Amino acid sequence: MPEGSKNPCAIKNYLVDYKETLQSGITIIPMQTEHAEQLEALQYIVFPTLAEEEILHADQYKKHVEIFPEGQFVALDNDKVIGATSTIRYHFDLNNNEHHTFFEIMGGGWFTTHEPNGDWLYGMDVSVHPDYRSKGIARALYRARHYTCRQLNLKGQITVGMLNGYAAVGDSMSIDEYFQKVKSHELFDPTVSVQEKVGFEIVGLMKDYLNDPTCGNAGAVIVLDVSKSI
Ligand SMILES: CC(C)(COP(=O)(O)OP(=O)(O)OC[C@H]1O[C@@H](n2cnc3c(N)ncnc32)[C@H](O)[C@@H]1OP(=O)(O)O)[C@@H](O)C(=O)NCCC(=O)NCCS
Repeated sequence: MPEGSKNPCAIKNYLVDYKETLQSGITIIPMQTEHAEQLEALQYIVFPTLAEEEILHADQYKKHVEIFPEGQFVALDNDKVIGATSTIRYHFDLNNNEHHTFFEIMGGGWFTTHEPNGDWLYGMDVSVHPDYRSKGIARALYRARHYTCRQLNLKGQITVGMLNGYAAVGDSMSIDEYFQKVKSHELFDPTVSVQEKVGFEIVGLMKDYLNDPTCGNAGAVIVLDVSKSI
């Protein structure tokens, strides 16, 4: 492994070779175009309430691998895709209250928003098949992303986490109240609180981000500084 190498070719080779094998036998490797159809199928299983335009499709996955191979990873059980993560590089000013929708930031699914010199690794999603949850697979996918941050000298990971737990309490409180309760750890959100456990910090609420009323159409802006170990 060319640790700390500044040679882009060496970096690329290393990232293409990235592999972590978990105790369960699940492997984390860079996404390949041959995974695209399985990845599309996994999207419908993991994000059943997302609008169709926000679901990633096979042709789009093939494009992501072409645009930014270092930012795309899959979790495999033998040859079966049971988890994945997709990212771009992006300039994000944390002090500027930037607003965008999920559809906008993912370039309609095609990642045309990828900024080759962007200083943050912006996470589009992390998905783990329901049969494989709570086995450390998401943490391993975030670890692979963190490795990319270090290789490319990025500030760290940023993402807008879905406030999935709002669906259960949406009748009794606003999304702002729910967000505050998750932030103060009064409530546990099945996505954002898990991301906090991995090491992310909650820095803000982005409203009108998604087209998914079950999470109040909103997400929590969360960051994971590159200096942190995960
Ligand atoms: C959120 C999600 C990616 C987590 O995947 P996972 O593989 O089950 O997560 P991990 O096993 O790596 O868990 C990470 C940490 O969160 C904890 N955790 C995971 N699920 C939890 C739950 N339901 N309740 C409490 N803690 C939980 C784990 O114990 C672990 O903590 P630890 O390492 O300190 O023990 C998965 O549930 C999922 O795909 N959800 C739907 C899609 C989604 O919301 N994606 C994220 C936004 S794009």
